[in-house]
Amino acid sequence: MILALETSCDDTCAALVSDDGLIAANVISSQGLLHARYGGVVPEVASRRHLEVIDAVTADALERAEVTLDDVDRVAVTRGPGLIGALLVGVSSAKALAAARGLPLTPVDHLHGHVVASTLGEDPIEAPYICLVASGGHTFIARVDDPGSYAVLGQSLDDAAGEAFDKGARLLGLGYPGGPEIDRLAAQGDPDAFDLPRSAPGTGLDFSFSGVKTALLYAVRDLGEAAVAKRRADLAASYQRAIVTALVARTAQAIGREKVARLAIGGGVAANSELRARLRELGGELGIRVWTPPIELCTDNAAMIGAAARFTDPVPYPDYLTLDAAARLA
Ligand code: KG4
Ligand code: ZN
Repeated sequence: MILALETSCDDTCAALVSDDGLIAANVISSQGLLHARYGGVVPEVASRRHLEVIDAVTADALERAEVTLDDVDRVAVTRGPGLIGALLVGVSSAKALAAARGLPLTPVDHLHGHVVASTLGEDPIEAPYICLVASGGHTFIARVDDPGSYAVLGQSLDDAAGEAFDKGARLLGLGYPGGPEIDRLAAQGDPDAFDLPRSAPGTGLDFSFSGVKTALLYAVRDLGEAAVAKRRADLAASYQRAIVTALVARTAQAIGREKVARLAIGGGVAANSELRARLRELGGELGIRVWTPPIELCTDNAAMIGAAARFTDPVPYPDYLTLDAAARLA
């Protein structure tokens, strides 16, 4: 049994994952409301809240899994990338839990977690597969030949897709985080109402979302406040359509190029209803299988950190006592 902790951004998470990838508990304590009034995550506020709740979240996960620390064989924790102060809470806590029992500790790359989220559960994906990861901080397409690692085939050259959703939502006067707000509102709008750029320039597998964001900014300016208020749903639907179309186009290109018959998605934007539907459609068109994990495995969670730990060599006690969190990983 693996006890996994994740505190890289604004969710305090603890999970118990068995060695065969079954989730015994996956507890997520979201700080969303705490940061909403600032319109984004405030790093110092995030670290303090992690510190306040990490022990309770861990205890809750153990209780839900109906196990105790005696049943835990190793501890896993997100080492980076993320907010350094936030990461440190998880890393220190994981070290303390592991060291007190002399257990091994597995430091995990947060993005590796998103890439292997679909290896969890009763119907795990198997390598080789292509994975589209779209979160608040990162957007990339990876090829996985062995779940212990991943090769990035293309990535965003500017904003991450989630960042584009959040910034677009702010332009439209919606709350934070913006992705779910746009997703909800877009369902009532016309995605063809506004002509926003839907593809990144170039022929590679890289993304660019700064153009669509600027196009929305101009559209909002040209319309003026009253018209924006009336057409908010159309703007949200058109904006979402542009981002999703770019994500789907590059993913289709990657599958064609790599000739791999399995696709997974991960990251907070993988919770987007239009993206999930369009990728399932794409799977049908191309005759490939698509894994769209449940929402709680797309947005930040500790089960995916446990998943990555299954495929990563643990560090024995006491070697990890000098382990540090890292805001960026090489
Ligand atoms: O993976 P995640 O939970 O945290 C990071 O590692 O960044 O992703 C958070 C991002 C936010 O930008 C949020 O707006 C976006 O995921 N997101 C969505 C949806 N749910 C969350 N974007 C579009 N549609 C959604 N339904
Ligand atoms: Zn994430």
